[in-house]
Amino acid sequence: MISFQLLLDSFEKKFQVEIQNIQTTSPVKLYEPIAYSLEVGGKRIRPVLLLHAASLFTKYPETFFPAAVAIELFHNFTLLHDDIMDHADIRRGVSAVHLKYGENSAILSGDAMSIMSFRLLSQCEPIKLHSILTLFSTTAIEVCEGQQYDMEFEEKDQVTIAEYIEMIRLKTAVLIACSLKTGALLAGADEENCRLLYEFGLLIGIAFQLQDDWLDVYGDKCTFGKKIGGDICENKKTCLLISAMEMGNEKARSSILEWTRKSDFDEKEKIEAVRAIFTESGASTATKALMKNYHDQAIDKLNQLTIADSDKTELRKFASQLLSRVK
Ligand code: IPE
Ligand code: IPE
Ligand code: MG
Ligand code: MG
Ligand code: MG
Repeated sequence: MISFQLLLDSFEKKFQVEIQNIQTTSPVKLYEPIAYSLEVGGKRIRPVLLLHAASLFTKYPETFFPAAVAIELFHNFTLLHDDIMDHADIRRGVSAVHLKYGENSAILSGDAMSIMSFRLLSQCEPIKLHSILTLFSTTAIEVCEGQQYDMEFEEKDQVTIAEYIEMIRLKTAVLIACSLKTGALLAGADEENCRLLYEFGLLIGIAFQLQDDWLDVYGDKCTFGKKIGGDICENKKTCLLISAMEMGNEKARSSILEWTRKSDFDEKEKIEAVRAIFTESGASTATKALMKNYHDQAIDKLNQLTIADSDKTELRKFASQLLSRVK
């Protein structure tokens, strides 16, 4: 069993070479923002999950490095556009691409990254091409659907937990699930294990976004690398806000509504007031409990995989670390 750390190290080493190539490609103003966004880091969980899933079914997961790069490129493309949509200026502790290079650059360089990811994936073995591209293009369009719901919910007072879960399934979980299934498909895994890995990815992806939303309120700016309270300022309908509306008293509910309807406010004041309501109403605890619930459902799927139990250790560890991740 190859450890996540080893896969991460070998991916990162080769990926940095790719980034250097991208950086020196013309026109520089198209490719430099791409290299900038890729080299400032990120946890690389999607490419590592792809390579790990492949390693469960082949001794040579490194063969699928181009597909792993494709997934990471696509993920970073979504971040370039997401930061424009979310008015987010800080990503991974540095200026977001739209702030450093301008919105037009973030849009176009993002588009190029998305296309580059399809170009890379289209290089896979012809016999696997149809299933890989069908999965990837379906995933890509689902991410767009999720992002659209995310924006629409900003304008709505009433969003249910079920609607929220569906939104985060689309914007976040499907790409994590796709990473695992792509690795498995490329390595020639059977249909049932591909399906179970995909479902594990969906459930753990939902838990992943729940923790992202929690960290957006309670995280440390330096460690998390993003602005704390950004979701509160943008009136994002996260599990925290929805739970606070459901569990809070009348005063808490009307206070949240009042804050979300204000167009002119002091950011610090809004963040502190809403965060206090999240904590007092029990919304923070409820979010953590829901995350644990999705983690447990994911582990159930993992248990059903028909591979050696010892081969499940790394995914179990990954899932458990995710619950308390700080970045
Ligand atoms: C950020 O994803 C976007 C979400 C889906 C929450 P990551 O937290 O994986 O971002 P990086 O790549 O590690 O920075
Ligand atoms: C991001 O959700 C999902 C996608 C980029 C598709 P968020 O908007 O919560 O991600 P961060 O917090 O900006 O990384
Ligand atoms: Mg965002
Ligand atoms: Mg967003
Ligand atoms: Mg977030």
